[in-house]
Amino acid sequence: MIRFDILTLFPDMFRSPFASSVLKRAIDREVVRISIFNIRDFTADRHRVVDDTPYGGGSGMVMKAEPIVAAIEYLKSTNGSSRIILMTPQGIPFDHCAAKRLSQLDHLLFVCGRYEGVDERVRDYVDEELSIGDYVLMGGELAVMVIIDAVSRFVPGVLGSEVSILEESFTDDLLEYPQYTRPRVFRGKGVPQVLLSGNHEEITRWRRKEALRKTLKRRPDLLGRVKLFEGDIDLLAEIKDEEGKAREN
Ligand code: 6GU
Repeated sequence: MIRFDILTLFPDMFRSPFASSVLKRAIDREVVRISIFNIRDFTADRHRVVDDTPYGGGSGMVMKAEPIVAAIEYLKSTNGSSRIILMTPQGIPFDHCAAKRLSQLDHLLFVCGRYEGVDERVRDYVDEELSIGDYVLMGGELAVMVIIDAVSRFVPGVLGSEVSILEESFTDDLLEYPQYTRPRVFRGKGVPQVLLSGNHEEITRWRRKEALRKTLKRRPDLLGRVKLFEGDIDLLAEIKDEEGKAREN
């Protein structure tokens, strides 16, 4: 079982995303455990203050260090060791590789910052900082949900079959090949003949080729990282040939 603890000022935001589909099943089967803690519950003052104006002036509020650090220390003392991750647009960009790495751990503790920021001194109490992309969200909450979703896919027992994850390592860093389901003809448009052929070798080859084609076209930046397998060079040559011909026409 992997455990995700979340420290947030907005616990209500987490009610629905974990209450349906694959994650709900994983939680019900106790493969994944998600606990939400309100940072406000770790304040020690009468007014339960969690933020304050920035030293030096300026607009917006800054999350105070004391409640966050009190929460981190409390959770560490009750749960033992855990990886403490601060969610911030200044963090390292989260990707496929980070998802795999985090899925190996037993216990992750996410601290959701608000976009205006957290007191810099909180950083002494975290192990790493993550961002989910180059744009600014109002808080780290949605980013944590994204990360829990992506990490959970690599936790054994979360997805239906273990095979799909194995297959996926073959297609790491490649975009998905095109998929089709019934009807066989939709508004005049059919399905590639090879998928109806029943020839699994041909189908595997076609899928690999189309995944390479889509990646080449849309995300050439990813291709540099792809582990090329035997046969891929031929497929890439075929694709270049076909795309060249398509441009001539
Ligand atoms: Cl982790 N937090 C915020 N506030 N904005 C973000 C982000 C995180 N990742 C991308 N944008």
